[in-house]
Amino acid sequence: MARDDLAATERAAAVTFLEGDRLSRRASEPEPEPPTEEQSRRLIDRLDHFLSIDPDGCWIAEDGRDVVGFAISQNRERLWYLATYGVLPGRQGKGIGKRLMDAVLVHAGDRPGLFSSTVHPAATRRYRLAGFTLHPQMRMVGTVDRSTLPAVHGLREGRADDLEWMDELDTAVRGAGHGPDHVHMLETLRLVVSDAPDRRGYVYIDETAGRPALLAADRPETAETLLWEALASARGNTLVNCITTDNHWAVDVGLAARLDIGQEGYIAVRGMPAPAPYLASGHYL
Ligand SMILES: CC(C)(COP(=O)(O)OP(=O)(O)OC[C@H]1O[C@@H](n2cnc3c(N)ncnc32)[C@H](O)[C@@H]1OP(=O)(O)O)[C@@H](O)C(=O)NCCC(=O)NCCS
Repeated sequence: MARDDLAATERAAAVTFLEGDRLSRRASEPEPEPPTEEQSRRLIDRLDHFLSIDPDGCWIAEDGRDVVGFAISQNRERLWYLATYGVLPGRQGKGIGKRLMDAVLVHAGDRPGLFSSTVHPAATRRYRLAGFTLHPQMRMVGTVDRSTLPAVHGLREGRADDLEWMDELDTAVRGAGHGPDHVHMLETLRLVVSDAPDRRGYVYIDETAGRPALLAADRPETAETLLWEALASARGNTLVNCITTDNHWAVDVGLAARLDIGQEGYIAVRGMPAPAPYLASGHYL
C-alpha cells in the first residue's frame, strides 16, 4: 500500500465490512449502517499512521486501479498484529485473501501475533490454518445504571510522560509496548491512568462513542476500577468488547452496571497467551 491508496482502501473496507456485518447480523440487532464521514476520516488517519510507522506490513490487492483487498499488519518490537483485513464481497473465495494473508505473515516472521477476528467463516478458516488459537470474545452492552456507579479512587488523567511506564506494562501483559500507537491514541482518545506502584493500569476512553477503547492493568482489581471510570463517562448505549474468558472481571463489572452479556468474534493469538487483565483495542490490539 502507498499513500495514494489510502482513500481507495478506506472505501474498499467500508463496503467489505458493511456486507460482512449484514451477513453476521442477528435478528435482534439493528441493520448495520455505512460508516459516517467522521468514521471514514478516522480510518484513513489510522491507515496513514500504520503506513508511516511500518509500511512493510501494509498490503493491498489491486485490479487495474481498483483496490479489491487489503491486509494491514504492524510489527511493534517482538509483537505482530493484524489491524484490518478484507476482500471486496464480489471478489471473495478466489484466493485473494490467502495471498494477502501470506504477505502479512511473512512480515510477522517468528513474532508472536495478536488480533481481533470477525466470525466470517473464510476469515476464521484462514486464521486457524495459519496456526492461531481463537478465543471467543464476550461483550457487555446496554445502558449503564448510573445508580450502580461506585466512587473510584487513585485515578487521574493520563499524559504523554506516562507512556514510558505504560509501554512497560504492555510488555508484561502482551509482550510489547504500543509505542507510537500510544502517541496516536492520545491525540483522539481520553486517557485515564492508575499509577501507584502496586496498582498500575490505564484505559483509553472514546468519548464520542461513549465506551472504553483499550485497557491494560497489573491485576484485575486495578482493571475493574479503570473500567468503572470508563462506564461513568458512557452516555446512552455503551459497549465493552474484546472480553476473553480470562477477563471475567470485566463481565462482573458490566453485570454490576446492569449491562447484558453478548458474544462476538474471537481474539486470535499465536505464540502467546490471550492477554489479561486486558481489553484489546480492535484497531491497535
Ligand atoms: C476473510 C477474507 C479477507 C478472506 O478473503 P478471500 O479472498 O475470501 O479468501 P480466500 O479465497 O483466499 O480463502 C478463503 C478460505 O476460506 C474458504 N471460504 C471462502 N469463503 C467461504 C465461506 N463463505 N464459508 C466457508 N469457507 C469459505 C475458501 O475455500 C478458502 O479456504 P481454502 O483456501 O482452504 O480452500 C474475506 O472473506 C473477507 O473480506 N471477509 C469479510 C470481512 C472480514 O470478516 N474480514 C476479517 C476481519 S478479522
